[in-house]
Amino acid sequence: MNDVIVIGSGLSALSFIYALDENKKVILFTKDKIDDHNSRLAQGGICYSFHEGDHGESHAGDTYEAGARMGDRDVIRKMIGKSHSLIKRYMDDGMSFDRNMENELVYGLEGAHSTPRILHAGGDRTGKMMTEFFLKRLEKRHIEVHSEHTVIDIITDAENGARGVIAMDYNGNARQYFSDSVILATGGYSGLFTPNSGASKTMGTGHILALRSGVRLRHMEMVQFHPTLLGTEDRTYGLVSEAVRGAGAVIVNDSGERIMEYAHPMKDLAPRDVTSLEVYRQERAGCRCRLDISGVQNFKGNFPAIYKAAKKHFPGALRNLRIPVTAGAHYTMGGVIADTDGKTSIPGLRVIGEAASTNFHGANRLASNSLLEAVVTGNEAALAVNETERHVHGTIDPARLRVPYIDPEVCDGIKTEAKETIGFTRSGGELKLLLNKVRMHLEGAESSHTDIAGWHRYCEIMTIYSMLHGCLHRRETRGCHNRKDFPDNDEKLRNTEIQIGMEGEDL
Ligand code: SIN
Repeated sequence: MNDVIVIGSGLSALSFIYALDENKKVILFTKDKIDDHNSRLAQGGICYSFHEGDHGESHAGDTYEAGARMGDRDVIRKMIGKSHSLIKRYMDDGMSFDRNMENELVYGLEGAHSTPRILHAGGDRTGKMMTEFFLKRLEKRHIEVHSEHTVIDIITDAENGARGVIAMDYNGNARQYFSDSVILATGGYSGLFTPNSGASKTMGTGHILALRSGVRLRHMEMVQFHPTLLGTEDRTYGLVSEAVRGAGAVIVNDSGERIMEYAHPMKDLAPRDVTSLEVYRQERAGCRCRLDISGVQNFKGNFPAIYKAAKKHFPGALRNLRIPVTAGAHYTMGGVIADTDGKTSIPGLRVIGEAASTNFHGANRLASNSLLEAVVTGNEAALAVNETERHVHGTIDPARLRVPYIDPEVCDGIKTEAKETIGFTRSGGELKLLLNKVRMHLEGAESSHTDIAGWHRYCEIMTIYSMLHGCLHRRETRGCHNRKDFPDNDEKLRNTEIQIGMEGEDL
């Protein structure tokens, strides 16, 4: 029997395996190639609030405020508290963050942080460098990797909880794999939006796997848009990190006016939800936004990857020091309800990284808290699994290979409508219409033996359904969720968790 099954290959998965006892066998599934994941693209860095002039309480306060005061304060403190020794341990083991000439760590500033506290590696290649750090240390460890495989079911039973998965390759061959623990590290669902900042394939597969197994989702309405994707509304080329604004860049419109000057007291370093909404408003008013980098010292040296992308796609704009930017989906706060060690309501099933909702981020994630979340939840889950002895047994239900069949054209149509309906701003009437339409298709869909494409379409529609459900039920505006018909915060709703499950009236 394989001891642990890991689904996903990003930083949460790698940090999990790094901290897992050597004597545990690992079998890993990824629907792409092993190194094709969003973490690798992360430019912005990782928060490290344990140094002179900063402390965890200040970082926790910024996380809570940026999250529109919806995050769980205990979770925030715990996650940040754990991050200090963990990041220190990685550094002791050779993870190299950027340092100055005196060999001191360099702390960067990003939106909604009250003080510089962000570590970078390779300038703007932190995700890539951290991935390589883990892969190097895992070189000698035997991991059975199944790339280009999609997990279409978690095998569970009432007695044992999770005890394996059914995975399928692109030829439609399905096999069962057994384990003592199943770890979902599948990322978010911002790939359902265009434009988006990352690998465009995230569609909430882990969320729907968990949902089908009986675990509930929370805060699916909370989708974060990043204000500065490189490019225009029609075509984007990845991200221009917030760290560039932290280093002095400002967003301007066609008339050269600074769009954030009066929009928020923190101006260009306002929380991400505020800045991206302002970019969106400018675009709706017919203005294009540009990032004025004239105030950034040594742009090429400090941000080599962004420089390279800007030079390739917008050489003239780079010469004029005004790079075109637009807002696009970046990160999803909604996820599978889990503790900071990934524990869910099903024994043996843990969810880590962006796929999990620990309510660390609240209604809007603070910049550079995502790599922190990935490694802390990955590490905590490994420590918990190391201490757990589970020996599972039981039978398998072959009916689990059947999922409701969604017609490809219907799926495309719903996705197109969803991009409009679940956008920067939302209204109850439109949400309800689309929700009813999606529900009708789901209820009318015949279950059939699935292939990967069919499973992915089902995940897309179910994730959209879950988002619509969250958007409709949160009758207030908070963080990344802007309701045209409920434009204000409603303090009574602040701690309301909009959850969704497979049972009863939820579906
Ligand atoms: C960025 O570099 O702006 C993105 C980092 C993050 O998402 O926290």
